[in-house]
Amino acid sequence: MNAACRSVYPVEQVLTSCPACRKTGRESLLDVVYDRSDPGQKLPRDFAYFLRPESGGECSGVWQFRELFPFYRSPSEILSVGEGRTLLQKADQLAMKLGFVGRGHAATPSLFLQYEGYNPSGSFKDNGMTAGFTHARMAGAKIVACASTGNTSASLALYASQAGMKAFVFIGDGKIATGKLSQALDYGATTLQVAGDFDTCLARVRAIAEQPSAGVYLLNSVNPFRLEGQKSIMGRVLRDLGLGRGGKIPDWIVVPGGNLGNCSAFAKAFIELRALGMIDRLPRLAVINAKGARTLDRLVNEIGLKWIPAADGDELAGTFDEQKVGAEWASMDAAGAGGRAKTIASAIEINRPVNLSKALRALHAMNGVVRSVDDPTIVEYKAMVGRYGFGCEPASAASVAGAHALLQEGVIRPDETVVCILTGHQLKDPDVTVGYHMGITNTVQGEPTRARMFANQPVRVADDLSAIAGAMGVSLS
Ligand code: F0G
Repeated sequence: MNAACRSVYPVEQVLTSCPACRKTGRESLLDVVYDRSDPGQKLPRDFAYFLRPESGGECSGVWQFRELFPFYRSPSEILSVGEGRTLLQKADQLAMKLGFVGRGHAATPSLFLQYEGYNPSGSFKDNGMTAGFTHARMAGAKIVACASTGNTSASLALYASQAGMKAFVFIGDGKIATGKLSQALDYGATTLQVAGDFDTCLARVRAIAEQPSAGVYLLNSVNPFRLEGQKSIMGRVLRDLGLGRGGKIPDWIVVPGGNLGNCSAFAKAFIELRALGMIDRLPRLAVINAKGARTLDRLVNEIGLKWIPAADGDELAGTFDEQKVGAEWASMDAAGAGGRAKTIASAIEINRPVNLSKALRALHAMNGVVRSVDDPTIVEYKAMVGRYGFGCEPASAASVAGAHALLQEGVIRPDETVVCILTGHQLKDPDVTVGYHMGITNTVQGEPTRARMFANQPVRVADDLSAIAGAMGVSLS
């Protein structure tokens, strides 16, 4: 279904924008919607349903929540590699360092990290890819493609190799972290390094996928089926906070924003869970941009762009001021290279987020805020997460840096329950990590550097036992 004109299309149709809107010259996204009045799609009004014993042996933390996205015809169509077996981690040391506190007599703060880096390809993308590939199989796809800043391509390449489909990934020239590129190559995807950035790549791959003669199935987040799988991340957050067993929904979800698919999927999950009667309120949402790629921050906080909900109360339907966005795109184009996104968090180095409309809807539904954090702050918080957590890639650390900024602003209260999404694994971008610890400047030029509080350089030492013991600070008898 399209949120603006509400045209509805059959689930088997392969579409990444609304054909009816196109006729009027507009590019407009689609949502997967379900008829819950259909007896086959009815669910009990209790989140505990997803904790049922038969889901205990479930090997996928995505398909544990399959009734939240029942678009497939039969379970045999599901393509899963055991994704979504990720956990919500309580991050007490990090929380205390940042100034979060326990509530009432509770001894410890309620800061949590949702570690999506522990997916098979090392990022949250696998949550969406399993759903996207399930639909690709339903649609009989043989060739799949995406544009990517790295993680989407790694994930697509993995699933394509499992599905036996031909894969093409479009990446901007020199715009991808080493770990991510190595995955796409290893999994056997044809990697096209297009002379341009992510936005250029996405425009090109969309143009190709739109040609029926090309037979290419597109797996970027404009594919609404991909976002359906990403809803399960919120399912696991609620599961691990004990919802259905006496636990409560969190106060805040904090997520890095790039192409804005993830935050859009999260809000859709909560809107639907409330409609199903499984939750009674929505957490607040904080979307964190990198300062060098702060399109959403600018549109929301400076230009005042907002979601205009439909009058009839359908929470997925609505519009926004497209003229304001058009004017912003024109001014970015006029600024030339100076107006292009540039950040060390290459995963979110994006100019024109394609899920903008859905992100505005998400901010509206979840009483959300948008902030941006600069590159030196991102690398500093990345090191802090590494020291006090399980580590993550630069873009993911934007969530923790953003949560801290909002705490300091007084928007987030120190005793609230806050969930930061760590979207990608630490090993995705080793160059940034080593650069930080070794003191090699690798933040974007022109930004002030920060004291590297967590720098941990290797210690050079001669091959001599007493020198080694000296370097270790231990004594030899
Ligand atoms: N964090 C990481 C590690 C990512 O790879 C991405 C997006 C995001 C956050 C932003 O998520 O786009 O849903 O707002 N990476 C895409 C890619 C663009 O091609 O891998 P979003």
